[in-house]
Amino acid sequence: MEVAWIYLLMIAAGVSQTFAREDLQNMSFIFGKKGYVTVESDQEGEPLENVTLCLKHFSELMARQALFSYATKDQSKDIAIHMEAQEPYRWYNVYIGGADVSFRTPYSYLGWQSVCINWASETGVLTFWLNQKALSRKIVRKGYSIRAHTLVELGRAHKENIFFSGEIQDVYLWNYTVEARDMKSTEWKYIYPLPVVNWRNLEYEIQGNVALEYIV
Ligand SMILES: *[C@@H]1O[C@H](CO)[C@@H](O)[C@H](O)[C@H]1NC(C)=O
Ligand SMILES: *[C@@H]1O[C@H](CO)[C@@H](O)[C@H](O)[C@H]1NC(C)=O
Ligand SMILES: *[C@@H]1O[C@H](CO)[C@@H](O)[C@H](O)[C@H]1NC(C)=O
Repeated sequence: MEVAWIYLLMIAAGVSQTFAREDLQNMSFIFGKKGYVTVESDQEGEPLENVTLCLKHFSELMARQALFSYATKDQSKDIAIHMEAQEPYRWYNVYIGGADVSFRTPYSYLGWQSVCINWASETGVLTFWLNQKALSRKIVRKGYSIRAHTLVELGRAHKENIFFSGEIQDVYLWNYTVEARDMKSTEWKYIYPLPVVNWRNLEYEIQGNVALEYIV
């Protein structure tokens, strides 16, 4: 059994609490070779039918990278975002329940890129937002429910040799559909009800080669 799952079980059983819980406002994780960060979600037993995920990344690597992974016991890509670039484009692969859709965007490595997704099980509609602008919507995994009891990882694809190089900040996961007008804002910290993964109150553990620093 993998160490991470043992952790999950220990936390579920209330045995230990080794994760830090902090407000990471104005900070970012800087990922070195094969480092990643595990994060706790506050989603309780309920499956997820509506989700919104936002984060910002800053990276110049063009090879395939993993930004965000939400793995459940039976599905290692219940929610995941990967990306790779080939100038002039960057492709984002967004996974729901193991199936993916991809979005083509202009490649840029100069500065933070803000990425959000909304997905609703009822319609399967997945909206991808890059820097507060929605791309044309796609449909994936209509009718699927995302399990709770998850392992969230930043900068690594669960059980795969795909990592991330660069910086990640402002990670938020809501267990409902955040309204479009809030998706067009950059101030995710004011969105209410609170997210189940909250950068302003993040329970996380650094795994290996990762530093947490104030943004420059
Ligand atoms: C974060 O940065 C903003 C803008 O520079 C500043 O107003 C705020 O006080 C900072 N917050 C923390 C916790 O450092
Ligand atoms: C969202 O998460 C909160 C906090 O864990 C929980 O109380 C609520 O029931 C969840 N909502 C859904 C739709 O799962
Ligand atoms: C998800 O959103 C749909 C449409 O707004 C709603 O009918 C449904 O109750 C929501 N599901 C949950 C678990 O909140």
